[in-house]
Amino acid sequence: MKKHRLALFVSGTGSNAINIATYFNQHNSVKIGLFVTNNATSPAIQVFQAMDIQCEIIDNIQAADGKFLIDLCAAQTIDHVVLAGYLRLIPAAFIHAFNNRIFNIHPALLPNFGGKGMYGSRVHAAVLEAGEVESGITVHLVNEHFDEGRTLAQFHCSVDQNDTIETLRIKVQVLEHDHYPIVIEQTLNLENHV
Ligand code: GAR
Repeated sequence: MKKHRLALFVSGTGSNAINIATYFNQHNSVKIGLFVTNNATSPAIQVFQAMDIQCEIIDNIQAADGKFLIDLCAAQTIDHVVLAGYLRLIPAAFIHAFNNRIFNIHPALLPNFGGKGMYGSRVHAAVLEAGEVESGITVHLVNEHFDEGRTLAQFHCSVDQNDTIETLRIKVQVLEHDHYPIVIEQTLNLENHV
């Protein structure tokens, strides 16, 4: 069977991307074909280089250039893209080229606490500020509107009175690492059977 080839896009430390690459290492139907980051100091770069995965460090002009990103992915015959803490706006041409084939993870229960400027610790701060009793993660497909594509799965965790941004971040990260690779795998499997 032909393997799916995924590109991983990262702006931060890349713990989700590393977890996904580890999950799909030696997988029978999925291969990570490309790692892209707009953060030249991301510690994930060394990890991906050591895994012999093609790494591309892009600047903000390249990140906004749909054709550039399409060509980057075409060179590695990528068929799906996984955003894992990638914070640049995805150009419309790229979204069209990978229509319904771009995954994203958001560290809260969308549609709440999403939208422009809502990423990482800012999301957890807003959840705590609002006095929520639960939070969680949303895995969704990407469309032209920030955080609005079709939801694939959500997983919940409690927010306790003594939670801080850091304790909530850790609870959410555990959910992300447990579920994001599996939701990707299940979605790709479903596509194989339609
Ligand atoms: C993750 O929590 C991810 O959900 C979040 O960035 C973090 C990246 O962590 N993404 C967003 O907030 C997107 N709106 P990582 O670099 O350790 O994987």
